[in-house]
Amino acid sequence: MGERMGNLRRSMMCGELSISDVGKEVTLMGWVQRERNLGGLMFVDLRDTTGISQIVFDDSVPRELIEKAESIRAEYVIAVKGIVRERQSKNPNMATGDVELLVSELKILDEAETPPIYIKDDDNVSESMRLKYRYLDLRKPGMQSNLKLRAKVAKTVRDFFYENRFVEVETPVLTKPTPEGARDYLVPSRVNPGQFYALPQSPQLLKQLLMVSGMDRYYQIVKCFRDEDLRANRQPEFTQIDIEMSFVEVDDVLSMNEKLMKRLFKEIKGIDIELPLRRMSYEEAMKRFGVDKPDLRFGFELNDISDIASKSQFKVFSDAVANGGAVKGINLNGYGESFTRKDIASLEDYVKTYGAKGLAWIKVTKEGITSPIGKFFSDADMSTLLYRFDAKEGDLILIIADKLSVVSDSLGNLRNEVAKRLGILRDDHYEMLWITEFPLLEYDEDAKRYVAKHHPFTHPVEEDIELLESNPDKVRAKAYDLVINGDEMGGGSIRINNSGLQSRMFKALGLSEEEAQDKFGFLLEAFRYGTPPHGGIAFGLDRLIMLFSGSSNIRDVIAFPKTQSATCLMTGAPTHVTAEQLTEAHIKVDVDNE
Ligand code: AMO
Ligand code: AMP
Repeated sequence: MGERMGNLRRSMMCGELSISDVGKEVTLMGWVQRERNLGGLMFVDLRDTTGISQIVFDDSVPRELIEKAESIRAEYVIAVKGIVRERQSKNPNMATGDVELLVSELKILDEAETPPIYIKDDDNVSESMRLKYRYLDLRKPGMQSNLKLRAKVAKTVRDFFYENRFVEVETPVLTKPTPEGARDYLVPSRVNPGQFYALPQSPQLLKQLLMVSGMDRYYQIVKCFRDEDLRANRQPEFTQIDIEMSFVEVDDVLSMNEKLMKRLFKEIKGIDIELPLRRMSYEEAMKRFGVDKPDLRFGFELNDISDIASKSQFKVFSDAVANGGAVKGINLNGYGESFTRKDIASLEDYVKTYGAKGLAWIKVTKEGITSPIGKFFSDADMSTLLYRFDAKEGDLILIIADKLSVVSDSLGNLRNEVAKRLGILRDDHYEMLWITEFPLLEYDEDAKRYVAKHHPFTHPVEEDIELLESNPDKVRAKAYDLVINGDEMGGGSIRINNSGLQSRMFKALGLSEEEAQDKFGFLLEAFRYGTPPHGGIAFGLDRLIMLFSGSSNIRDVIAFPKTQSATCLMTGAPTHVTAEQLTEAHIKVDVDNE
């Protein structure tokens, strides 16, 4: 056991010592990063949340002090008092590298076993070890800085909304299922046998009810829960910056929220963002980039060559067009030499994971074109094709023929993949835009009905309302996403605030009157008592922090995250519970408990 702190009181932080402190007596407390014993002369790097200072025990200090110092190991927690002096050999790579502390008093506050992971950022230990020993992992400067960044972003968000007359209101975590399209996490009610709460996928309906309540402008930094398949930028519980405003149209919501982005980029990154942000319709994004969250840091836009392809002798191409599909491609301008046949084969494997059946290519070289499909085109058609792609020597064109959805999805993702492989993506450069006018509905092949693309409360674009029954595919929504560097950072919409239109929407979704009442009766009833026009948005806070910190892993910006299989390796959650707990919750488990 370590000794008590006794009369030692911390007077400075380890990262603060500088040349102006030379001659001062100070007391530091922290963890031993490393110790070097040169026989009679001992150096210890002492770490706290602000940084590292070098502390020294030399032959001027009493023998017992040196002996005590010699028992120190990595991660011991110690307190040291001494005089700051200028270092003989300065370390320019260390913030405190000009000075060191010559120790006159040492207390070991706690000893430490050898930690199972090194406390340094570039340690390439497995992520499961990091997650199991998360409290040690969080000692690393990089992780500490991510958490501080997160706190600073949250503070900036709160300042911004406070200044703009928004009220932060907490909404319940034990609630009724909210419709965001993922699976709910359920919580049994002990006092209401057989009944369940759902953890909110978002506070969507509650924030709309706050508008009915006359709150006018609401925001909340709020945990949301979605039982969905996890990916690199998805967690089962994540945090939203959730916003709702009354008496607004699309322009009002976008303009308020892009001001928030401007403020964040200025305070966090020191970057001036020019407003208004660029806007692009969903239709244009799909046409030019194949996806609804285009990365605008590079070109390689999609070109439609269906007309030329339909005339070619290549059956795959002409059939695709004849069957109502499309043939499109991208030109990797100037990067033709960067891809060998083997590389292209690996890109073909990549697009197959998106349902494409193959990947045709055309290389433009000094000698002319090389292509497995060259022979299927007349010279005139090939020239038109090359012209369409603005092809020049050194280019590589990649083409896919299929149903339009497969062509878009595979080329859109291929575009990102080649940029990644080429290493041309700068993570200190930000390209942001609003995607607007999403389709209101989307046909779900499995459910054999239309589902809401955003959620069932999204307002259709006025002039499209009349198509709701006759041509549901064509109805655009007053919905928008904020996309930064190819990631969806936020999304929202103007809401329906009229029960007649809401009923038509439910009908379009195949919901019967009774189902609508059962699921959303409380909202529909609320709408009967005077509902202001309203709309809002929610940003993924975790994703914003990833962007600002340059992390590609969402777990690096969350203190205690879950694994890809939604477990916590540190606490062991989820776990079995006792038979008594199950009985109390009126739950019978039908899997073997061991
Ligand atoms: P949406 O479902 O688009 O909208 O979510 C808003 C934003 O939250 C982030 N996000 C996630 N981040 C991490 N892990 C997840 N599993 C996850 N799911 C979503 C994304 C996303 O853009 N109620 C509506 C908002 C509204 O209409 O106002 C909503 O929840 O960055
Ligand atoms: P094959 O005749 O199957 O050897 O294909 C000739 C070339 O066309 C190969 O480069 C294939 O990858 C490509 N290819 C095959 N199917 C498609 C498709 N649906 N879209 C684009 N290229 C394809």
